[in-house]
Amino acid sequence: MTFDEKTNMYYPSEDIIENANVKEYEQLYKYSIENRDAFWAEQAEHLQWYKKWDKVVDESNKPFYKWFAGGKINVVHNAIDRHLATPNRNKLALIWEGENGDVRTYSYHALNREVSKFANILKSMGVKKGEIVTIYMPQIPEQIYAMLACAKIGAVHSVVYGGFSHEALGDRVRDAESRVVVTADGGYRRGKVIDLKSIVNDAIDNCPTVEVVITVKRTAHEVVMVNDRDYWYHDLVSLPIASSVCETEQLDANDPLFLLYTSGSTGKPKGLIHSHGGYSVYTSTTHRMVFDIKPEDRYWCAADPGWITGHSYLVYSPLMNGSTIFIYEGAPNHPYPNRWWSMIEKYGINILYTSPTALRGLMRYGDSWVKKHDLSSLRLLGSVGEAINPETWKWYYSVVGNEKCPIMDTWWQTETGGFMITPLPIIPLKPGSASKPFFGNEIGIVNEHNQEVAAGEEGSLVIKSIWPGLATGIYNDPQKFIDTYWKKYEKEGWYEPGDSAKRDSDGYIWIIGRSDDVIKVSGYRLGTAEVESALVNHPSVVEAAVIPLPHKLKGNAIHAFVILNNGLTGSKELATEIKNHVSKMMGPIAKPEEIIFTDTLPKTRSGKIMRRVLKARALGLDEGDLSTIEE
Ligand code: WT7
Repeated sequence: MTFDEKTNMYYPSEDIIENANVKEYEQLYKYSIENRDAFWAEQAEHLQWYKKWDKVVDESNKPFYKWFAGGKINVVHNAIDRHLATPNRNKLALIWEGENGDVRTYSYHALNREVSKFANILKSMGVKKGEIVTIYMPQIPEQIYAMLACAKIGAVHSVVYGGFSHEALGDRVRDAESRVVVTADGGYRRGKVIDLKSIVNDAIDNCPTVEVVITVKRTAHEVVMVNDRDYWYHDLVSLPIASSVCETEQLDANDPLFLLYTSGSTGKPKGLIHSHGGYSVYTSTTHRMVFDIKPEDRYWCAADPGWITGHSYLVYSPLMNGSTIFIYEGAPNHPYPNRWWSMIEKYGINILYTSPTALRGLMRYGDSWVKKHDLSSLRLLGSVGEAINPETWKWYYSVVGNEKCPIMDTWWQTETGGFMITPLPIIPLKPGSASKPFFGNEIGIVNEHNQEVAAGEEGSLVIKSIWPGLATGIYNDPQKFIDTYWKKYEKEGWYEPGDSAKRDSDGYIWIIGRSDDVIKVSGYRLGTAEVESALVNHPSVVEAAVIPLPHKLKGNAIHAFVILNNGLTGSKELATEIKNHVSKMMGPIAKPEEIIFTDTLPKTRSGKIMRRVLKARALGLDEGDLSTIEE
C-alpha cells in the first residue's frame, strides 16, 4: 500500500490489484445496478442448488421480498456437504483455541461428522423442521456445530450471546417459544469460569415451553442438572442415535435459517429472520469479493457467533467459501495483551476481521506487544460495528498490518445480513470512511424532504434498492418489520437503517452514527428504552433517560439521568447499586458509565423525553430548537 499526501488516500499495491478476486469497481457496479437480477443470479451460480429458482426476486408482497423464489437449497449443503466431494474434504475447516490453551482442529470431513451427530441428537429430541432452538454457549466448536446442526435439519436457531443475563435470555426463549435449549456448563473468560448453565437454569424457571436442555461439558465445574430435562451432550453423543450420517434437508430458498434478536427503538428486542437462499448468496458473495478470499486462507473473524457478524462472517460465509476459520474462546488480553498477536503468528492468520472497540482496547497497551510477533502472514484487515476513528485506523494499518494490508471498513446491520457499504481491496482508502456501496446497492443520503443532500452535508442514510441479504421479517410481528424499516419512506419504497451519514466529493460515504434511539457501546447495539426500563425496574428509581456520550475505548458510553422515588437522595453507593442492577438485568455491556441524579427530565408536550437536549447539555453544546419542550 502507498499513502499519497495530495489526495490523503491509501492506494493498493500492484500485486493486490493483480491478485484480487474483483479487479474493477465502477463498471461492475454500473452493471449490477442496471442488471440487478442478472448480477445476483450470476452470484447464486457460485452455490449449489437442489433446484434452481423460478424467479430471482418475487416482489409481490413488499417489503417481504422473496429472493430466489422456487429455489431449493440448504446453507449446510454449501458450507459442508459440497466440500466433501472435493480436496477440501481434508482441509482444515476449523482451528479452535480455548482461553486456557486447549486446541482442537477439524477438517471439513470431521466437521461433517460432528454436525451430523449433533443433528441426529436434535432429531432424537423431536426437533422438527421450522422449530426454533435457542443456543446459549461460549465460543467453543460445539456452538458452531449446534448452529449448523439446526440448519441441516431445517430447524431455526436463535443464538443468544453468552454475555447476556438470565432475564435477557429468558425474554428471547419466551418470544421464540423454544422447546430445546443448547448450552454448556461454562466457558473461560479472563481465567475465570463463566457459569452459563446456572444462568440457563435461572432463565428457564420462567420459560414454560422448554422441555429439553442439552449441555456441553467445557469447564467441568459443578452444575445443577434437572432430571428429565437436562442431558449432557457427551452422554448423548455416545448413544447409537448419534450416528455420523445425517441427510441434509432440502429446503425452500425462503425457509427460515435463524432468528437473531436485536435492539431497536422499542423496549423489546425483535427477532430478525434470515432465510437460507438469499442470505447464503449475499454473505458468500460479499465475503469472497470484499475479503478477497483465496483457497489457502486462514481467516479469523474475532466476533462472537452470538452477533450477526459471527453468523454471517464467522460461520456461514467462510465455510461456504471453503476457508479455514480460526476461533478463540476468551479475552483478547489474557493472560497478556499479546494474546491475539501470538495466535496470528502461531496459526499464520491471513485475514483478521474485528471491531474498532477491540482494537482500541489493545492499542492502549502500546506497540511493543504487537511488535513481539511476526504478523507477516496478514494480507487483509477488516473492521465493523461502528465508524473506525482515523487514529485507530492508522494504528491498525501501520502497527498490525505493517502498511501492507488494505482495511475493509464494512458498514452493515443485523437486518442487512451482510456488507452494504464497504471498500474492496482494489480501491483507494480513506481512514474512517466505509467507502462505497457494495454491488447492487443504491445508497442515498437525504434531507427531511427526501432529497439527496449536497456533498459534505449530513443527512439520513437510506437504501433505495433491495438485496438478497435483507432480513425476511420479524418473528411473530410482521407489522413491526414494516413500521420499523419501511414506513418512513413508504412512497419511495426505501429501507431506513436509522443511521446518519455524509458523502464527500469523491463519492465516499462517511457514517456518522445512529439517528434513532439506539446506542452503540463497544459496537454492541442497545435500545435506550431497554436500558431505561432496566433502570426503572430498580426499586428506588421512578424515571430514567439514557444518552450516549463519547468514550475513549467504547466509542460511546451510557450516561443515565435518574429520578429517584420521593424522599430518596442520590449517593455514590446508590449509583453503584443501580449500575449493577442494570448489568444484572441486561448483561455487563449495558452497565451505565455514570448515573446522574436529577429532579426533572426535559420532555416534549406529548411526554417524550428529549434525549438530544440532555446530550447537548452534557457536551456543553447548543440545545437546539426547544419550542416543543414542556418541562
Ligand atoms: C449498526 C448496526 C453489522 C455487524 C455489527 C453491527 C453501526 C456497523 C459500521 C461501520 C459505522 C457501523 C451502524 C449500524 N455500524 N458497522 N463500519 N461504520 N457504523 O450490527 O448490531 O445490527 O448494528 O452498527 O450504526 O446501523 P448491528
